[in-house]
Parts: sequence; structure tokens; C-alpha cells
Amino acid sequence: MGKQFKRTLITTALPYANGPVHIGHLAGVYVPADIYARYLRLKGEEVLLIGGSDEHGVPITIRAKKEGVTPQDIVDRFHAIIKQSFADFGITFDVYSRTTSETHRQVASDFFRKLYDKGEFIEQTSEQYYDEEAKQFLADRYITGTCPHCHNEGAYGDQCEACGTSLNATDLINPKSAISGSVPVMKETKHWYLPLDKYEPFLRQWILEGHKEWKSNVYGQCKSWMDMGLQPRAVSRDLDWGIPVPVEGAEGKVLYVWFDAPIGYISNTKELLPDTWETWWKDPETKLLHFIGKDNIVFHCIVFPTMLKAEGTFNLPENVPANEFLNLEGDKISTSRNWAVWLHEYLEEFPGKQDVLRYVLTANAPETKDNDFTWRDFQARNNNELVAILGNFVNRALVLTSKYFDGKVPAAGELTEYDKETLIEFADVKADVERLLDTFHFRDAQKEAMNLARIGNKYLADTEPWKLAKTDMERVATILNISLQITANLAIAFEPFLPFSMQKLNEMLCVEPLGWDRLGQTNLLAAGHQLATPELLFEKIEDSVIEAQIQKLLDTKKSNEEASYRANPVRENIEYDDFTKLDIRVGTVLECAKVPKADKLLQFLIDDGLEKRTIISGIAQHYKPEELVGKQVCFIANLAPRKLRGIVSEGMILSAENADGSLAVIMPQKEVKPGSEVK
Ligand code: MF3
Ligand code: ZN
Repeated sequence: MGKQFKRTLITTALPYANGPVHIGHLAGVYVPADIYARYLRLKGEEVLLIGGSDEHGVPITIRAKKEGVTPQDIVDRFHAIIKQSFADFGITFDVYSRTTSETHRQVASDFFRKLYDKGEFIEQTSEQYYDEEAKQFLADRYITGTCPHCHNEGAYGDQCEACGTSLNATDLINPKSAISGSVPVMKETKHWYLPLDKYEPFLRQWILEGHKEWKSNVYGQCKSWMDMGLQPRAVSRDLDWGIPVPVEGAEGKVLYVWFDAPIGYISNTKELLPDTWETWWKDPETKLLHFIGKDNIVFHCIVFPTMLKAEGTFNLPENVPANEFLNLEGDKISTSRNWAVWLHEYLEEFPGKQDVLRYVLTANAPETKDNDFTWRDFQARNNNELVAILGNFVNRALVLTSKYFDGKVPAAGELTEYDKETLIEFADVKADVERLLDTFHFRDAQKEAMNLARIGNKYLADTEPWKLAKTDMERVATILNISLQITANLAIAFEPFLPFSMQKLNEMLCVEPLGWDRLGQTNLLAAGHQLATPELLFEKIEDSVIEAQIQKLLDTKKSNEEASYRANPVRENIEYDDFTKLDIRVGTVLECAKVPKADKLLQFLIDDGLEKRTIISGIAQHYKPEELVGKQVCFIANLAPRKLRGIVSEGMILSAENADGSLAVIMPQKEVKPGSEVK
């Protein structure tokens, strides 16, 4: 803080090239980073905006396997889509490259090698699952088996999706390889670890003492990671997709994707500026900023800085303005469930409307908490703000000028008190927008810019120049002069946010972009300056267009439900006797509490009609304990007791589950005696 820098290097999280980019990525990372880069460029500062595709990692190999193509095919396809859609959307990357590039392989390899030669890694052998048929070690996601907690048979080696517990592959009962279906064996393997624990004192000092100004969500996450105690992290994997570990005896091993990906920022800078890239990474007068989403905080605030520090010659980030998540119509965005608004589809379906999406995503930016995108809100913000406030004001100012003064800027006469007040009001806009942008408050900065248009609208509504045209042309000239000065200010203030529309506005005003420095001035357009024919900046979006988008999402929901029904068909018939083996009863919840250190589990004390029994249930994400106390629930009364997290659970509470995992506990529709049978 307070330190002066000569230039700014902005990096944006490299999106995985296993799918296209969606509005969640845009709102969290690329739109704010682009606004910030455009703002600095407008101020005449030296700035680079670095992007690229993250093309390694297990999810890409899984998708390739599923489609029967190579991982390279997958990343080629999505890198092209992503790169094109960013360009069409006006994200002004100075370079957008990829982690399968030759430059990157070299840079990442050298980086590993340098740490290796400095003795920065710990080498450690451990036992991991190995598929003898496929002749490869298995990433946790590639192993399935029975969950030790809830006995779900389809649990993954890293997590059971039925009860939500995070697992180690070695916890699974009856593990199976998802590649060959064979039973994996344990086999020794050697890996290299980055000793984060050794750097903890440095990290504490640097972040917790030195960067108290970081956003509280970022600072808080860093602190809680460090308070839990940092552990050495493996930076290599047994995988055949990635950058080979560049040391002897490392055949079949590649760099862990989270080791190579952030180095991609460096490689891409080097690809752009082969001779001067080091100025951007090593000169202490360069400010380094990482724009990311919240799931990337630990990698950018702890792991990557440790790598840079261990290497020894690089700058550390000055700030990491991470955002929270954007939801879509109330549900978490998901690539695998196709629950998203995809950028490349938006660009096709809403041609020329890049700025509408940019505006709405900034207005709803998940800066301090998760936020929601809905199509109704998209429509409302377009119709009520872009059209009714900004577009309407600019259009009235230009049309009236064209009507009364043949499109020439009229000279202002004597100013009234009200004119002066109006001019004073908008003189503050520059300082306000700057303060907000400098501290990464993009949502509020855009609001300030919109306020300027509100001031303009109010000014025209109050002065009503169209009524004075017959009687007082001199007054009309003054009013329109002031309105046009406000319009020119809008063209500057909105330039970082709505670049396509402001280009159009500059063309209508017949000016080159006016430059950030001049924001707030009241003489941007000289009297006599000829304007072009006015056109609408924004147009209303009709209900039918919005309804079509909502229908598309409903269709997605329906086909997800059908798919989950197909994946979960009715099981084979049983006899009546089989059914009667199940003893299902109603009980009353006497007590309910969260199980400590298990985010999914609730512990119930149930009155079952005879006595009290304890039942553990994995529904903590769906109910608060106090919501269930006093309620009646249905439970399996004769399920053999089993231990969960050291607590004996005597039964199972029944609930009904939606395809998206949300659920409702089953309750009798009116009160019955505890212990009543369900049949
Ligand atoms: N691909 C990662 C993700 O989408 C982000 C990588 S950021 C990088 O979560 F810097 F490491 F590249
Ligand atoms: Zn489970």
C-alpha cells in the first residue's frame, strides 16, 4: 500500500479447456479484469492482461476417454471456442495462449528444474492404487467403491456424493478401477513435494501482516488455511497427460496441473514479449494482480507465491481480488449438468449485445457473496437501466440537438443556479469512480457511472427544453450544451464497462475516445462541433426473448431429470415378503444437532414410541437442526446399527431427493403416534 508502481501485470485464471466459458467465469474473473485493464489503459498506464487455457489435469483425460478421442483433441476444440468467444466479447487480452504450447512446456520444465536443483522439494515414496490391467496409477477420481460412511456403492476415491464426505481412495470398501473395472493394487510411487510448511512463517508475515488490505473473503481464507497448518503438497502425478517431470527416474510422471497452470501466466507473457517479459515479472516496479474465483484462492495466495518465493527472482502478487460464485436462476452453475449460460451461445443468440451482458454481470458481480443471474433481471436491467436511463438520456440530448441545431453543439448562454448545481454534481464522478475501481469495487463503480446518466435525465425532465423551443432558443441552447457535455462525460465513464456502446457513442459524437483525464470536465464538446445522426444505443428486450431463454433452461432441467431417472431406473421386482422385512416407523425428533467437523451430518435423538434412539443422517446441507426439532419423520427401525464418525446410528431417516441433490425429509401429513408403522 502506498507503494508506487510503474506498470501493472494482470493475470486471469486460465479456464480449463474441457468445456466452454460461461457467465460464472465472466462475472467472477474476466469482466472485472477487463474493466480494470481498460481503465488503466485509458489512464495511459502501462498494463498487460494475460490469459490462456489450462489444458492439463484429470478432468480433460476423463472427458477424452468418454468421447473416445485424445486429450489433445479435447483441448484443441475448447481452446478455439474459448479464445474466439473471449475476443468477440471484447475481453482485451494482450495474449491468450495455452498450456500445451512449446514455450510453456519449456518454462514450466525449467521452473521445476530450478526448484529441484536448489533442493526446494522433498522426495517421498508412498503407496497408491495401481491398475495392473491398464498399467497405470489411478487418480482418486478414477477409483470407485463403497462409501465407508453411508454404504453408497458408487462413491469416488475423493468423495462420496451420496453423503458428501470427502474421502481418501484407501477409505473405499471394494475399490474398483474406473478404467478397467479391475481391483487395483497398492504400489509404491515416488513424488516431489513443495514444503508449504517451511514457508508458513514467511506467508504469515507477507499476507497476514503485510496485506491486511486484501478483500476480507481472500484474507479470511488464507488465514484459515494457515491456522489449520500447512502441509507439503505433491507437485507431480502419475499420469500420461501433462508436462513430463524433468528429472531422471521420473518416467510416467508429469507435473501436477496446479503446478504448471499458474506458470502459464509467465509463459504467456514470455510468448508475447520474448525479450522483455522479465521486466513484467521481476522488476519490483511492476504490480502483479491475479483475478480469480474463490475456488482458486489457496493456489494463488499460498501455493503459487511459495513457488515464486522458492524460485527467488520473481515478484509476488500485490493483490488477489477474488470473487465469490455466480448462480444461475438459484442453482449452482455446472458444466457437467449443462446448467449455465454459455458465452459462445449468448454471442450467437444476442448478436451485438455484448454490453448488455457485461453490464448485468457487473451489476450482479459476486464481489462479497454469491450472487444470482436470472433472465428476468437481465431483461429488467436492460429495459429499465440501459434503455430507460442511459440510452434514453443520450438519445434525447442528441435528437434534440439534431432537431433544433442541425446536430451542431450549441453555445451555452448564461447559466442558472440549477445549471451550476448540475455541473457541480457531476464533477465528482471521476474521483468516485476512480476510488471504487482502484479498490476493485466494480459494481459500485458502474453504479456511479449510471448515476451520471440519472443526473442527466433529471436535468432534462426538470428543464423541459422541448417546451421552450418556441419561446427561448437561447435557453434551449444552454440546456442542450450542458446535456451534451454530460453525454460526452458518459462516453468516458462507461468506456471500461460498455466498450462497444461507447465506441458507438463516440462515433455519434464525432470524437476520438476522449481520455480518462478529461472525465468531469464541462467543456468536452466545443460550440459548433458537428455531431453525426443519432442512433439508439440500446433496445428493449421483449418478453418472448426472455421466455425462450427460460424455456431452454427448463428443458435442460427436464433432460437432466430424465437422464438421472434413466441412470436410476426402477429396480427389479421384489416379493411382498421382502417388503415386510423393512420396518419403517414414524418418530418424533426430540433433539437435533450438527456433528462436529462433518459438514453434511446431523445427529438426531428420536422418540420411537418405546425409547429414544440416535440416528445420524447426511442432510445437514439441506436443513438447520432447529427446523427439525419437534417434527415427525419416517425412519428404518430395523437397520443394523453402524458407526458414523464414532457415533452409533440406529436406523436411517427417509427423504426424497431431486436430481440436483436437493432433498426433503418425509413427514406424515398429520400427526400420528410415535412408533406408528409405515406400510
Ligand atoms: N483451470 C483452473 C480453474 O478453472 C484455474 C487455473 S488458474 C491458473 O479452476 F493460474 F493456475 F492457471
Ligand atoms: Zn457416503
